[in-house]
Amino acid sequence: MSSSFAFELEDISFEYQGGQKALDSVDLSLPFGESLTVLGTNGSGKSTLLYILQGLLTPSAGSLKVFGEKTFTGPKRAKIAMMFQNSHAQLFSLTVVDELMFGPLQHGLSEQEARGRAEDIMELLGIGALASRSPWQLSGGEMKKVALGACLSTNPDVYLLDEPTSGLDPRSQVELADLAMKLKESGKTIITATHDLHIIEDISERSIVIGEDHRVLADGPSAEILKMNDILLKANLIHEHAHRHEGFRHKHSHFGFHEHLEGEVERAQKAVPQEAGAIPGKKGHQNMSDTGGKLKVLIEHWKEHNEEHARTYLEWAEKAQAEGRAELAETLREIARESTRLDELFKKAAGQL
Ligand SMILES: Nc1ncnc2c1ncn2[C@@H]1O[C@H](COP(=O)(O)OP(=O)(O)O)[C@@H](O)[C@H]1O
Ligand SMILES: [Mg+2]
Repeated sequence: MSSSFAFELEDISFEYQGGQKALDSVDLSLPFGESLTVLGTNGSGKSTLLYILQGLLTPSAGSLKVFGEKTFTGPKRAKIAMMFQNSHAQLFSLTVVDELMFGPLQHGLSEQEARGRAEDIMELLGIGALASRSPWQLSGGEMKKVALGACLSTNPDVYLLDEPTSGLDPRSQVELADLAMKLKESGKTIITATHDLHIIEDISERSIVIGEDHRVLADGPSAEILKMNDILLKANLIHEHAHRHEGFRHKHSHFGFHEHLEGEVERAQKAVPQEAGAIPGKKGHQNMSDTGGKLKVLIEHWKEHNEEHARTYLEWAEKAQAEGRAELAETLREIARESTRLDELFKKAAGQL
């Protein structure tokens, strides 16, 4: 490799269509073989940064060098694998084994070699039992493992992992951290975006903190960063509200249904003043006199996930674009744009409660 740096970013900024700022004046040089955690609260710009490093998005301003050069060619892209925050945006094959064979087949391996590689990866990740299942019908955690497997299958030099541990049970989280360490020991460059402070010392020697203003607030050894309470507070990474919000977390499907919503509403109602006549946890015949309680929770929920959906549409648009399906990509972008209108309507409804 000609350069000792995998990525060199100088004064990189990014704005989405419509002027939404996502990154502001980011400087970052990452040598090959280093493992970096990108810490930041929701919306700080972590995913955007990873998209830029993968070449899915082009910076609005600043200079980016990948593997020492300013051009972003196909072969370079093949050396970088990204595990998307939302596995639905990444997985597309009919079965898990097909998903894991796809990359190797694209790289010119024979059917037999590709199958062998898929089997090795399933064994490594403990997902052999899922081989003939549809990736889209797996649990969130299982899906993450398959998505990671898909990255491993092409044996890239650089791994971009977007919130890899979210949705994983504690044992799987430890296994993932172990695997990240093994990859690092074998010389891979790993960039992990997360807001999970527990894992960062295990998975990375260095961390950067992105603030809510989309700027890098700190860059240094992970152990040092973890001690910077004022920075972590400013970046909204430690905050008592974060703990209160934990109770509202739930598994969310992108097929339009909200699996654990009833439990969530029930839990949320414990946190908001109960009004007479409310039926906790019953879906369907909602009591509309309870406009201060349940509906408020529901609107908050719709508001929160609308943004997440919008990003999923966009991720799919990027995939469609990459596959040369420009028309579909444009329609998906249009859906994403329209969903910003929904955002306004949710806000309007929240204001009318
Ligand atoms: N497709 C999009 N269109 C407009 N704004 C977006 C889009 N995707 C993300 N954003 C905005 O850009 C900012 C950074 O988002 P993102 O990189 O996804 O943050 P993170 O991954 O840290 O949660 C947020 O304010 C977010 O709302
Ligand atoms: Mg993100």
